[in-house]
Amino acid sequence: MKAPKIQMELKENIFARELFGEDFKWGVSTAAYQIEGGHDLHGKGPSVWDVFTAKSGTILNGHHGNTACDFYNTYLEDIAMMKELGIPNFRFSLSWPRIIPNGTGEVNQSGIEFYNKVIDACLANDIEPWVTVYHWDLPHELELRGGWADRDIISWFKEYVAVCAKAFGDRVKYWMVLNEPMVFTGAGYFMGVHAPGKKGLTNFLPAAHHAVLAMAEGGRVLRQLIPTAEIGTTFSCSYIEPYTTSRKDVVAARRADALMNRLFIEPILGLGYPEEDLPVVKKLKKYYQPGDTELMQFDFDFIGIQNYTREIVKHSIFVPYLNAVLVKAGNRRVPTTAMGWEVYPPAIYHMLKKYSDYAGMPKIYITENGAAFPDVAADGKVNDTERVHYLRSYLRQVLKAKSEGVNVQGYFVWTLLDNFEWAEGYHPRFGLVHVDFDTQRRIIKSSGYWYKAFLNG
Ligand code: GAL
Repeated sequence: MKAPKIQMELKENIFARELFGEDFKWGVSTAAYQIEGGHDLHGKGPSVWDVFTAKSGTILNGHHGNTACDFYNTYLEDIAMMKELGIPNFRFSLSWPRIIPNGTGEVNQSGIEFYNKVIDACLANDIEPWVTVYHWDLPHELELRGGWADRDIISWFKEYVAVCAKAFGDRVKYWMVLNEPMVFTGAGYFMGVHAPGKKGLTNFLPAAHHAVLAMAEGGRVLRQLIPTAEIGTTFSCSYIEPYTTSRKDVVAARRADALMNRLFIEPILGLGYPEEDLPVVKKLKKYYQPGDTELMQFDFDFIGIQNYTREIVKHSIFVPYLNAVLVKAGNRRVPTTAMGWEVYPPAIYHMLKKYSDYAGMPKIYITENGAAFPDVAADGKVNDTERVHYLRSYLRQVLKAKSEGVNVQGYFVWTLLDNFEWAEGYHPRFGLVHVDFDTQRRIIKSSGYWYKAFLNG
């Protein structure tokens, strides 16, 4: 009696999609370095990720993105596959060093042509392109000049944004300026576990401040050059709870929340940095120039929220400035993904509520949500029921928030293809589509078919 169950689930799915409303945007998200490969083809310059992954000991198993999913060569087939799955919106990022190899100055026409072909193929397949201008692959040449820690990054970035807007603005309506500034500054300039591998407050604080300014300035460049565009930017966020109700743990959780969930959005909204709950950011003042408070603000058309999990935080004297530490999910006897992240669907509900509580918050799109599981391909199939379960449970929570009045208007699964997962290499598989990295063969997973049924009935 399998068929009736599937029928029932299908009905429930159709019903669920309709509940989100006709205009709700559904899609998948990707990022250039994680899927493209073609790392040195047709004039592309090296990015900080090309250089970082080439150093030994930086990435699990010595993996790198030189070929990744080979999307640089397979984009036509991959876009056709999205069409087959009935996915109406495709979020991808532009590689800065593919477009401007040295980061500033000469433009690489082959790079522009590549993205023209991707955008045109999307449109020819009735797929709306959603472009992230910066998803972490800074041109290496700019890192040699100080990267995000140097204030000149703001003008280099504006120049790059203008090149992109002029090249693609006639066909791309949806733009996201930065992907997760907290992650690329925190992991890349404080902890040194992501490119460019820098550490410490003296790198992190200026990088963070310049990222905020570049985000707002990038928004202004896009609005000026493409007045009809919908302009957003995306933030990582995790729902944070204290380990115990003790005052120390509560304060530690508040500090972690200010760092992980508030540091980048509040200055954009005109609230300044969350100094009260995170006193260390007072040190940011050192990098301020007159007028910065106003420059940091921008009225984005939408905010992209990217949520995967919840974090439990406890007080710790061993972590300077923060005095807080995350209690790993693995030590809490909770269900986890292959990343070791807790599966906790209400996290996305709480984050939607939290962000929509800000005065002046524009509409929200969930620009990433998804999970890595140890998928196994057998007989040309991947039966990833855990991922289907994960996505459905998180979506129910999105719907709950929406039904309570949160202005959430879209949802993008992270991600289309299994791909290069930064410091973790190719080990965690997040895709709706399985990739054999030796042959580049794609297999649509059960979750891909589930999404197709969900979207198309
Ligand atoms: C996000 C990031 C993506 C992807 C995902 C899963 O932080 O934007 O590039 O790696 O997490 O870890």
